Amino acid sequence: MNIYTVQNYEALCTKSADLISELIQSKPNCNLGLATGSTPLGIYEELVKRYKNGSLDFSKAKSFNLDEYWGLSQEHPCSYSYYMRQNLFDHINMPEPQRNIPSGTASSAQSECFLYDQKISEAGHLDLLILGIGRNGHIGFNEPAQAFNMETHLVELDTVTRQDNARYFKTYEKIPSHAITMGIQSIMNAKQILLIASGSGKTEALSKMRNGQIDPSLPASILQLHENVTVIQDVDAAGLSI
Ligand code: GLP
Repeated sequence: MNIYTVQNYEALCTKSADLISELIQSKPNCNLGLATGSTPLGIYEELVKRYKNGSLDFSKAKSFNLDEYWGLSQEHPCSYSYYMRQNLFDHINMPEPQRNIPSGTASSAQSECFLYDQKISEAGHLDLLILGIGRNGHIGFNEPAQAFNMETHLVELDTVTRQDNARYFKTYEKIPSHAITMGIQSIMNAKQILLIASGSGKTEALSKMRNGQIDPSLPASILQLHENVTVIQDVDAAGLSI
């Protein structure tokens, strides 16, 4: 793993946006894997800025989001579909048919998962996948489990995850209990992974990810087996702040 520790969140966003921009400029028809959560927000803001000043063109790129809450429609303000439109898609020129996010309201979760994997394999593989990390070491919504779940699947969310994401919902009860997430196989098939982490809440998960056993109880530990992972963390996440 290539690990970069930067001074603060702003530097994390600039460095991450540089890496993503390089790919889009060298391969305009690239497949991007996209994450949600609070960490990527500043990166998306920076990408929008670069699109608006003419240095980025998303017209040929495709995107595949990692996950979506099960039960939330695209119009629900807490859905990841809504998040992506608000924070990125409404401000850039990636055509709608090239943007992929699992549907949280499909009539069958099982067939939605199957179709999502099919779409990713039809596209080939992800050229660059942005990953955040949960405090419990989850990637996408691949939660701690007894085995790595390779396919896109419906998952029951961990208590830690529901607590961490409670801030977006009016009450704890309103947080969906399940989500659809890209599985470990599509994640590991990505040519390059950019894992971003900010804040001291991530220090323990990051350290276990790098130095612990490869174990499904800490899903991010599987990344030790990937050949091209770049971690961009701020000093707080690295555990270096005073
Ligand atoms: C959510 C997302 C993950 C993300 C994680 C961390 O649970 N499903 O993909 O990595 O949150 O989020 P944050 O960046 O807000 O810490």
